[in-house]
Amino acid sequence: MLDGRVAVVTGAGQGLGAAEACALAAAGARVVLNDLPGPALDATVETIRAAGGEAVACPGDVADWSTGETLVKTAVETFGGLDVLVNNAGVLRDRMVFTMSEQEWDTVVRVHLRGHFVTTRFATAWWRERSRAAAAPVYARIVNTASEAFLLGSAGQANYAAAKGGIVALTLATARGCARHGVRVNAICPRARTAMTGELMGPAPAGPDPLSPDRVAPLVTHLAGPAGDRITGEVFVVHGDVVALLGPPTVRAVFHAATGHWTAAELDAALGTVFTEDPPRPGFVCEETLPLAATTFGEPS
Ligand SMILES: NC(=O)c1ccc[n+]([C@@H]2O[C@H](COP(=O)([O-])OP(=O)(O)OC[C@H]3O[C@@H](n4cnc5c(N)ncnc54)[C@H](O)[C@@H]3O)[C@@H](O)[C@H]2O)c1
Repeated sequence: MLDGRVAVVTGAGQGLGAAEACALAAAGARVVLNDLPGPALDATVETIRAAGGEAVACPGDVADWSTGETLVKTAVETFGGLDVLVNNAGVLRDRMVFTMSEQEWDTVVRVHLRGHFVTTRFATAWWRERSRAAAAPVYARIVNTASEAFLLGSAGQANYAAAKGGIVALTLATARGCARHGVRVNAICPRARTAMTGELMGPAPAGPDPLSPDRVAPLVTHLAGPAGDRITGEVFVVHGDVVALLGPPTVRAVFHAATGHWTAAELDAALGTVFTEDPPRPGFVCEETLPLAATTFGEPS
């Protein structure tokens, strides 16, 4: 499906990134793998090579400007181009908003949001240049990694939820801004038992693990493949046997000021009939994806 294509995957040393890199390579892509320097990244490269695939390591902090530039350069110089970018690298520094340190906020927003932007910046610049030279759209795919934490507004993850919401907005802005050059950009909200979630999800069951990162990888390969040409600016929830396509936020209600501009009394009258719950509950929340996981969170009871 991806024969001859070149893909960059960030955070490919373990977890979802490693599974996605292996799946892309198994589908025929030659892959440039990024993670922080260390044996984990080299191990993924070795796994892919041992299976007959082509892979090179390109270590570095994904949020560094120079890493984004080097990743694209490595893809072009080593494999002759770039077709697919999978933004996946991430970290957690969970804390309630009122106790969160400056460092905890900055680290998470930096790695996730800036880490998605920096690679996207250099990849889209390269694609735009190629598309202009050819006077035609090019083959170009980006798969970003958001999270249901953004849909729910996870209370103990203000930094993470905010960064993931930003990634969805970046996904849409990139999809719109780069469509004419052929770039297709989508975001996934995965669930998988990894180092990041091991504590929450507990140990894997005996036998096949419904929360294996391998269950997420096929959607990434699909979006990276030819069928992905018709999919852009979308957000998916993916885990186990589930792929859920999210709808956009909708307008719940519209109010018009009778005199053309709102007065305090008119706002009281109009909105007072809508917001009657005491205490109020956050309204701009999507909880519909939670029950989808009933069969995939650990062992069915
Ligand atoms: N596992 C889940 O259930 C789940 C749920 C929602 C979203 N996600 C997202 O999926 C992505 C992958 O998560 P995972 O569960 O595989 O976690 P993981 O901790 O197993 O893997 C994350 C990888 O990113 C790398 N990384 C961290 N900081 C980096 C940096 N600055 N530069 C380069 N690489 C860096 C880590 O070294 C690690 O290899 C993350 O973006 C995460 O937020 C995961």
